[in-house]
Formats: sequence, structure tokens, C-alpha cells
Amino acid sequence: MEPSVIYLDHAATSWPKPPVVGEAMMAILNGQAASAGRGNHNMAIQAGRVMFNARKALASLFHISNPNDIIFTSNTTSALNLAIKGWLKPGDHVIATMIEHNSVRRPLEYLKRTIGIQVDYVAVSDQGQLDLGSVKKCFRPETTMVVCSHSSNLLGCIMPLQELGRLAKEHGAILLVDAAQTAGTFPINVTEMEIDMLAFPGHKGLLGPQGTGGLYIAPHVELEPLLHGGTGSQSEELEQPSVRPDRYEAGTANTVGIAGLAAGVNAVLEDGVERIYERQWKLTQMMMRELESMPGVSVIGPRLGLPRTGIVAYNLEGRDAAEIAFTLDRKYQIAVRAGYHCTPLGHETAGTLAGGAVRASVGFDTKEKEIEAFIAAMRHISAQ
Ligand SMILES: Cc1ncc(COP(=O)(O)O)c(C=O)c1O
Repeated sequence: MEPSVIYLDHAATSWPKPPVVGEAMMAILNGQAASAGRGNHNMAIQAGRVMFNARKALASLFHISNPNDIIFTSNTTSALNLAIKGWLKPGDHVIATMIEHNSVRRPLEYLKRTIGIQVDYVAVSDQGQLDLGSVKKCFRPETTMVVCSHSSNLLGCIMPLQELGRLAKEHGAILLVDAAQTAGTFPINVTEMEIDMLAFPGHKGLLGPQGTGGLYIAPHVELEPLLHGGTGSQSEELEQPSVRPDRYEAGTANTVGIAGLAAGVNAVLEDGVERIYERQWKLTQMMMRELESMPGVSVIGPRLGLPRTGIVAYNLEGRDAAEIAFTLDRKYQIAVRAGYHCTPLGHETAGTLAGGAVRASVGFDTKEKEIEAFIAAMRHISAQ
């Protein structure tokens, strides 16, 4: 059955999920949903296998050699909190950029207030270009981390991770990547890109359910755990176990959600990330071309023809972004997001701090005819 809504809010969370995702979750829920890693009965062992198979699928997607270096979390935000709070120490200096999401910025600002870290946010152009020369100038002896969103959730631009990884390494720092907008939609190779930590959502481009996400931690990176508690291993010890993933995964796992995530990742692997990117890029170009032909519409981020993720954010002169999104929803059954997108730094970069922006974002299975309907609706709205 075709969904009755045209869903263009994939940057927030993907929907609908491929049917295999729900099927995998139901199969586990009604079949083997025992507590993974707790007990030796057959169902618990099966649940543990579900978790390990999901790690294996993710390791294959991101070119990670040891699946146990992937820690499951409930979303990107919790992965970023573990990475940032688990790594930084009083007096450390961090280099971030002017496109960061609040999920990076707020933990950094919290540590600035509480333990006295220092942070530089390097400027990005309104087209989404980061000047590596400016990044280089920010390094100090105390710099221990470079953190960067792989793609801005407002501009859709793609950051030069490989170069940032190299720079971080040269200066003895680590690179933490926020892959909220690229996991499953843009190729990521943690080895080639010299990524030391990768935070990702399960519920966006990886097509899993909400409540899933993860953090890859390179073998040489040792974090202070954020959560302390039961792991089902080394129970006689007072310390968290030293082995991964247990060290960072206290408490009963979301086995049902992870089963859905594994099914989503396998769907991505079957299709191929390059193909997904290409398909989504073509749709964004179609949207941009049409939107830019409408009087008063200005599209944010990289120009037509340049790489971008599946996000097209825009404004219509003299009109409120929230009103446009409301009309799209109520009159045309088209779901987009409007206003501020949890990234004041991104809005400052894009010059949209005053009223935010409308953001339409495509996904795994967005159809050309859905974009045509969106364009037709925007033509009506912009002509009023
Ligand atoms: C760039 C970026 N970082 C982090 C997040 C937070 O992701 P999550 O909702 O999975 O915690 C988002 C969510 O939209 C995002 O776009």
C-alpha cells in the first residue's frame, strides 16, 4: 500500500522503513528476545548472535576490522556524549566547526563550563566549504580532538574528513565524526578517512527503528565509560569490564531494535551506498533546480551540481518557514521540517538565524513523482 503522506523529513528519521525491518523485529520479539549476554540458555545465546550479526553488518558498511569496536547506543546524541565526555580531560582543547549540531556543541559547551576545556569553532562558508588552512592554525599543544559533522543537517554540505583525519593525526589529536546525516547515504571508510570515532544513528539512513545508534571506537582510543552497571561479564569486579563492547554497554540491550537495525543495514548493503547517494543526489538536484526557478526562493548550501546529501533547505522571501511547512502538511500532506534545526551554528553559517528555514530531505525510497508533487505544491504556495 502506498503511504498517504509524502514524507520528506528523512534527515530527522527515515520512514517508511523497508518491510524487512519490522519483520526482523517481530521475529525476535516473538522468538528469541531473551537478554543478550545474560545467561547461557539457548535463547540468550541467540539474542547475543543477533547483536553480533548487527555489529558485523555495520563493520562491513564502515570498513571496521573488529565488530566489537562498535558500541550500541540509543541514538547519535548518546554516542556523541560518550565520545566527547569519555575522551576529554580538564585543560584539553578541541577543534570543531561552524556547522555542528547541538548534539556536539552542547556536550562541548557543558565541558567548557564544568571542567574547563577550550573549543574553537572554525568558520565554514555559506556554500559549506571548510578552509583547512584555518583548521591548521587552530592546533595547539593541548589539542586532543577534532570533531566534525560529516554533513550539515542544514546545508547538506560534505566535509573533507580524510584531510581532517590526517591533520588530527599529524598533531597528535583524534578525529570524532558525527555521521548522523551520512551513515548509510554516503560512503564511509574509517581506515581510509583516518576516523578514530564515528557516531551514527540507526534510525536515519541505516533504516533501523528509533532508539538505535552507535559509536565506533578505534582500538587505540580508550574512553572513560559514561554508564556503570551490569554487563553480564566479569560480574565479580567493581570496575566496568575492560573488554569491548561490554565496557561501554551497561544494562539490558535493545535486542529487538538492533535486529531491526541489522535488517536496515543489510538493505543498505544490498543496494549499495554509492547507488543510494547517486539516487538521492539526483532528487536533490531536481528539487533545487525547480525551487531556484521560483521567484523569491533561495536554497541554502552547496550550489547546483556540487556534492550534497539528501537535504534541501530553503526560504521564500517575506514568508515564514513554519507557515510554509504547515501549509505543505495540512493542505498537501507533505511532511517537511521548518524553523531551527538544532544547529544555531549552522544557521549562523547559512545566514538564517533570523527565522530558520524549511528543510525537505529525501530518503532510501523517495520517488521522483513525490518530488514532482512537492514542487507543484511549492509553486502554488510561492504564487500566493
Ligand atoms: C548532524 C546531526 N547530528 C546529530 C543529530 C542527533 O541525532 P539523534 O537524533 O540520532 O540523536 C542529528 C539529528 O538530526 C543531526 O542531524
